[in-house]
Amino acid sequence: MAGAAHLRKQTIADLDVAGRRVLVRVDFNVPIAAHNGTIGDDTRIRAALPTIRHALERGATVILASHLGRPNGRRVESLSLRPVAARLAELLDRPVTFAADTIGPSALAVIGAAQSGDVVLLENLRFHPGEEANDPEFARALAALADVYVNDAFGAAHRAHASTEGIVHHVKHHASGAGLLMAAELDYLGRALDDPARPFVAIVGGAKVSGKLEVIRNLLEHVDALLVGGAMAYTFLKARGQPVGRSLVEDDLLGAARDLLARARARNVSFELPADHIVTTNLDGTADYETLAADDPAIADRRGVDIGPETVRRYAGILAGAKTVVWNGPMGVFETDAFAEGTTAVARAIAAVDGTTIVGGGDSVAAVAKAGVTDRISHISTGGGAALEFLGGRTLPGVAALPDRPDDRG
Ligand code: 3PG
Repeated sequence: MAGAAHLRKQTIADLDVAGRRVLVRVDFNVPIAAHNGTIGDDTRIRAALPTIRHALERGATVILASHLGRPNGRRVESLSLRPVAARLAELLDRPVTFAADTIGPSALAVIGAAQSGDVVLLENLRFHPGEEANDPEFARALAALADVYVNDAFGAAHRAHASTEGIVHHVKHHASGAGLLMAAELDYLGRALDDPARPFVAIVGGAKVSGKLEVIRNLLEHVDALLVGGAMAYTFLKARGQPVGRSLVEDDLLGAARDLLARARARNVSFELPADHIVTTNLDGTADYETLAADDPAIADRRGVDIGPETVRRYAGILAGAKTVVWNGPMGVFETDAFAEGTTAVARAIAAVDGTTIVGGGDSVAAVAKAGVTDRISHISTGGGAALEFLGGRTLPGVAALPDRPDDRG
């Protein structure tokens, strides 16, 4: 699959932003405490800094637009982006002017007063119903705020909204491109799928198979080994006829699970399921728990909550030889310390890989942080749903809309 389309997109580096107004779509959808506006995790804000700095260093006026939460087209005070402006100003070490609306007279007044080197953050895009509806009028009004449009919101690229998709059709002179974060995300994830150093090992976990069927199906076309953990493993174990006790199983997906197992065999991909696990009755660690082999019927009416030490050894052994690793989803109920060992061990094993390692999804990113190995991962994706859709082989509308680089235009 040479020349994947996502790698041919124009980026901010191809655009002349000097002295221009540059509208940057960012994903500042960060956790904010409703009672005092404290930002719980500013990773997504930090991740946008290189693009913002790139534009500022070239004398641009930077206008930032983002969604926050799901206000459904209404103004919801607890979902105002105002607290983000304050945090961003600290991180950039320069003032950030907050515009109390996204378009319209008050936004235009703030933007009109902004000079080269200034930063403006617009209010939550989703306070306007036109954003999620991808309304052309709203998209046109957004495009009219600036000369250049840059999409750095990888986390929202799977949404065909006015600020991610519609706007591109209204920006003049092809003056649109991916931001540096978007480009890095597409580069890492795109190369993993299109041209990975091998062995390529994917490790997938989390509660449900249903949210990751497409990802697993698509990954099986690309990987050498697929390691499965978390509650989703039980649908596969049951499909293989093993005892699962009261573990979370999606019975309606047993057929799909069998298909995937067969597909892996046909493609000679090693599809690894837990060989042992921790079983208990309570997810919060308050009841007794023990380690059992995954085929041991003594699980009875208990449920699996973490992969066991034998599985950790096997998975770590496979990961040790990998040259490309993609990880999405925890190996167990890692929020409970007693059941976090498998996930933490996997995080450490991935950190030790001598190759390209990519971690996506809120829980796995949190697990990497909890294990203290964030700095040893090649790329931490800021996209949850977007990363899954990308790995599932889907076209992201926010990426597809961006113009190709001039040399690649047909
Ligand atoms: C995310 O947090 O995954 C993105 O910001 C997208 O948010 P959404 O699922 O509300 O569109």
